Amino acid sequence: MYICICNAIRETDLRKAALCCEGDAESTYASLGKRPNCGQCLEEAQQIIEDERTAASCEMFAA
Ligand code: FES
Repeated sequence: MYICICNAIRETDLRKAALCCEGDAESTYASLGKRPNCGQCLEEAQQIIEDERTAASCEMFAA
């Protein structure tokens, strides 16, 4: 599923990028070589990024 139509960023790519960089959605987009255009995706993207980072930190404690 595409999260950002303007940049054709898929949810799976966004989740991977979230674990490889720090910062907000715009920073995560930048790590993919993208910049927000219309900005409609940013709120949902930020939520996905936070969810992915939270899940990853929980996995660290479970290991
Ligand atoms: S949908 Fe992401 S910037 Fe437009």
